[in-house]
Amino acid sequence: MKNITLRTLNKIKQNGNKFACLTAYDSSFAQVVSDAEIEVILVGDSLGMVLQGKNSTVPVTVDDMVYHTRCVAQSRSKSLLISDLPFMSYCTEELALTNASRLMQAGAEVIKLEKNGRIVETIQLLNDYGIPTCAHIGLAPQQVHKLGGYRVQGREQEQAELMKQEAIALQQAGADLLLVELIPAPLAAEICAQVDIPVIGIGAGPDTDGQILVLHDMLGITPHTPPKFVKNFMLEASSIQEAIAKYGQAVRDGQFPSSEHCF
Ligand code: KIV
Repeated sequence: MKNITLRTLNKIKQNGNKFACLTAYDSSFAQVVSDAEIEVILVGDSLGMVLQGKNSTVPVTVDDMVYHTRCVAQSRSKSLLISDLPFMSYCTEELALTNASRLMQAGAEVIKLEKNGRIVETIQLLNDYGIPTCAHIGLAPQQVHKLGGYRVQGREQEQAELMKQEAIALQQAGADLLLVELIPAPLAAEICAQVDIPVIGIGAGPDTDGQILVLHDMLGITPHTPPKFVKNFMLEASSIQEAIAKYGQAVRDGQFPSSEHCF
């Protein structure tokens, strides 16, 4: 696999192909994921749950993200590296610029931020300073307490229309990637078709350009019951390396997610 850049992901989309993404939080797993030719690694703030044992991503700090981004950047070789801005770390212009810079200097190549009332302006600001971004829409886990749980978003027509408009506004503001979480598969397909930038899905059906899962979920080692959209790839593999490689292939072949993983 050649070094993966945003240009590579754009070409994959233009050619009608698919790419695979996984989270990783440490140097050893980053190497395994990269060696398995997974195109994108996300240092997700899900580390609050899978590494720190918290019940949401809200307690994760910028220092946590910088530390884990550095660990992953150390040994992932070819995969594109995205890193999350955690809860309230981009709620003013100054915070957004300072904290995005910290993650970039720790080795991130793209900064992901979850939607809020000002995400379009924040993406525009980061874009003005040449910072590549991935806008995370649909379910925003950092707002779990406001939402009252991890619920499918965009089921009602009005909410779905707003999400489609939001996707276009984010592309126009300079977002390089979109990530859509926990939305109905037909809505994800519409969003993916109406924007030129690559769209990564989780719990969003088979029609996005890329798929992402939390590494610990697809290895079947999370203590909680996994959500419906997760598949445990260890059940059909004899090693972690094989499970990760099979996940990548299943995404590229369009075999994952199947209907049982969709809303
Ligand atoms: O933090 C994370 O791991 C994420 C994925 C669930 C997409 O945002």
